[in-house]
Amino acid sequence: MKALVKEKAGPGLRLVDVPEPEVGPGEVKIRVLRTGICGTDLHIRKYDDWARQTLKPPIIVGHEFSGHVVEVAPGVEDISVGDLVSGEGHLVCGKCRNCMAGRRHLCRNTIGLGVNRDGAFAEYLTLPASNVWVHRVPVHPDVAAIFDPFGNAVHTALSFPLVGEDVLITGAGPIGLMAAAVATHVGARHVMITDVSDERLALAGKLGVSLALNVSRTTIGEGMCQLHLREGFDVGLEMSGNPAAMRDMIANMTHGGKIAMLGLPAEEFAVDWATIVTSMITIKGVYGREMYETWYNMSVLLEKGLDLTPVITDRFPYQDFDAAFDTAASGRTGKVILDWSEEARPGRARNEPTEAEAAPTMDRSA
Ligand SMILES: NC(=O)c1ccc[n+]([C@@H]2O[C@H](COP(=O)([O-])OP(=O)(O)OC[C@H]3O[C@@H](n4cnc5c(N)ncnc54)[C@H](O)[C@@H]3O)[C@@H](O)[C@H]2O)c1
Ligand SMILES: [Zn+2]
Ligand SMILES: [Zn+2]
Repeated sequence: MKALVKEKAGPGLRLVDVPEPEVGPGEVKIRVLRTGICGTDLHIRKYDDWARQTLKPPIIVGHEFSGHVVEVAPGVEDISVGDLVSGEGHLVCGKCRNCMAGRRHLCRNTIGLGVNRDGAFAEYLTLPASNVWVHRVPVHPDVAAIFDPFGNAVHTALSFPLVGEDVLITGAGPIGLMAAAVATHVGARHVMITDVSDERLALAGKLGVSLALNVSRTTIGEGMCQLHLREGFDVGLEMSGNPAAMRDMIANMTHGGKIAMLGLPAEEFAVDWATIVTSMITIKGVYGREMYETWYNMSVLLEKGLDLTPVITDRFPYQDFDAAFDTAASGRTGKVILDWSEEARPGRARNEPTEAEAAPTMDRSA
């Protein structure tokens, strides 16, 4: 089968032929349909310090995918050949205190799909059945392919009650955009999203936010005036990993405000702790997705009409992976999807789903 592999230490990825994986005990084999390109994959292609310290090549990369089940190990229940599935990319130990207590997202021995074990940028992958999410609510394969980052957005956005609250989201990358869609959908009063990319802020405009603010030109305080907010934001969702964004957020929270922080800063940085103390701000770090409460939330949000299609801006056949990675690395687009289906042909980049695809479907032949 074809797979996108980090073959050896150094920059770049190669599309190569590798043996199809075989299902082990308790596992499921999946024919991959679509994959999403994540910041993690960009780090791996570039082979930066993080990748150098983390990866042990050769390894098939990628962790965001959708596909159809083609084989199920004996004894695996509730998953059938033909099911449309996504996968939780964090493989947990099942033995530590948190796993034993059912708090699997807090496992201290997590293994990452496409980072510590062969991943999803391939025609087939195998996964423990306990990491497979079956789409029982109809969902398009493109949207199913981004359940992993959608889960980051939902996990963060639902960390604190949002109904009637004024919400500040810093960072309009794919995850910030999805968080904005969720916050609006679940009944926040105002959602203000910030970035330094006009292209990304324009995408936010399609998601019904109250204000999409370019902080390279306008301060958050000025944005607050535009929305007639007097006391600051009730909830902050930090989704940029940028120190300045976190400092600005802290400075613009109401007393008793709550911040959920998903953005991963590259290094340590200082913040105004005196304000955090005297404004009695709560800060919660967020990693991954809750297994499987977040997954349940995601399916239900889509069932109830949440529309993520504006967030998916670019689609490429897997053969054109380098162009797809360059597009994702530009920092100006929404989510970039690779097509691994039989129909994928080089040079067939699509920016709109075909008519047949646009309709939500459970079609198992896609
Ligand atoms: N905690 C987790 O489990 C987890 C999982 C996935 C991603 N992440 C992190 O979450 C963040 C969002 O992910 P993404 O894929 O959307 O990333 P991204 O890099 O595509 O988006 C970040 C956005 O922040 C913007 N930005 C930069 N400086 C800013 C500033 N001062 N104010 C406002 N915005 C600013 C950038 O222009 C960019 O559009 C990243 O930091 C990523 O590393 C964390
Ligand atoms: Zn990801
Ligand atoms: Zn564990």
